[in-house]
Amino acid sequence: MLLIKNARQVVSPHPSEVPLSGERLGDLNILSKTDIAIEDETIVEIGHNLDYPDAIILDASDMVVVPGFVDPHTHMVFAGSREHELMWKLEGKSYQDILAEGGGIMRTVNETRAASEDELKEQSLKRFRQAVKHGTTTIEIKSGYGLDLDTEIRQLQVAKWLGEQGLAEVVSTFMGAHAFPSDVSREQYISLIIDEVLPAVKDLAEFCDVFCEKGAFSVEESRVILEAAKNFGLQPRIHADEFDNIGAGDLAAEVKAISADHLVVSTKETFRTLKNAGCIGILLPGTPLSTLSDEFANARKMVASNLPIALATDCNPNCYTESMQFIQQLAVFRMGLTPAEALTASTLNAALALGRKDRGCISEGKRADLLIMNIPDYQHIVYHFGINHVKNIIIGGKLID
Ligand code: NIG
Ligand code: FE
Repeated sequence: MLLIKNARQVVSPHPSEVPLSGERLGDLNILSKTDIAIEDETIVEIGHNLDYPDAIILDASDMVVVPGFVDPHTHMVFAGSREHELMWKLEGKSYQDILAEGGGIMRTVNETRAASEDELKEQSLKRFRQAVKHGTTTIEIKSGYGLDLDTEIRQLQVAKWLGEQGLAEVVSTFMGAHAFPSDVSREQYISLIIDEVLPAVKDLAEFCDVFCEKGAFSVEESRVILEAAKNFGLQPRIHADEFDNIGAGDLAAEVKAISADHLVVSTKETFRTLKNAGCIGILLPGTPLSTLSDEFANARKMVASNLPIALATDCNPNCYTESMQFIQQLAVFRMGLTPAEALTASTLNAALALGRKDRGCISEGKRADLLIMNIPDYQHIVYHFGINHVKNIIIGGKLID
């Protein structure tokens, strides 16, 4: 047993099995001078002066306890890096210019294909550890830097292996539809995904994602892939409305995707359509930041439209961060969320965007994924930016070293 004693604040969204939206997004439960008892994987009691003689005690007198962060959108398993693209971006090249010239995703595809499984493990584990150090206790990881059968499988196997390291739980997504490989036609590649890759990865992933965008997959192509994925038991999610609005957000609603991610150029009507379809908007403010754009998703309008939102890092070689603390800071400083809204979007709503109802809030009976943070008030997660506030990490009731 673990007993967290005397936390200055215990801060959490209210328990809910549906994602929180509108005014409920920023409505936190804040307790002071509180103890939390954990048995095995589970929070068993929250209260004052709890007494469990056999428990290991964690003194949190000057600390704030929050739910572990859930990062519901990353591309963390890849090889190589793309720091040279930063200069190109500074010189005025757009993300899509770089991709069209064979850089961007294609550069990382080449590096990932060339990497052995051990190299891919070693490089990805470094990032995975950083994510955990910065408070991520559940993380989604997508494939999509293989674009061929072997490498897509290899990426998903590495993601699975990361999840077996006794750190954060990994939720895997197949994203073969991330870009078109240059050696086959579009039709051939889509057939390859449907006829060969999906059957081979169906037990290695829970979700299927598509980059539905001008210069990537059309709405028609995305629909065909996502419908095929459903037949293999993979639930759809979509990279939607990141640069051009070609109708990807609406497709997310149509195919009943669990999330529509990016939503930078979506219309208000799309927010309503997504809300009515029960879809969660996942916002990735690191992406406009790293492409040197000032155009961030309109989070305030989403909240006003009652669309539930979650936050994620998008961790990839273009947008290279593992820190959900930094993402909350961006969400507040650049998208106008409150620190309370950003916390719910990084915990409960992010967990539900991965179909995990057992976590994301601090409540008796929930999975004990908790962070003890060295701050005097939860708002310091955002207010005091650019440093790591995490002191202790508890994942599934285990104190992580
Ligand atoms: O979510 N836009 C497509 N996919 C990723 C970027 C991947 C990359 O640039 O390597 C994204 O931004
Ligand atoms: Fe992404």
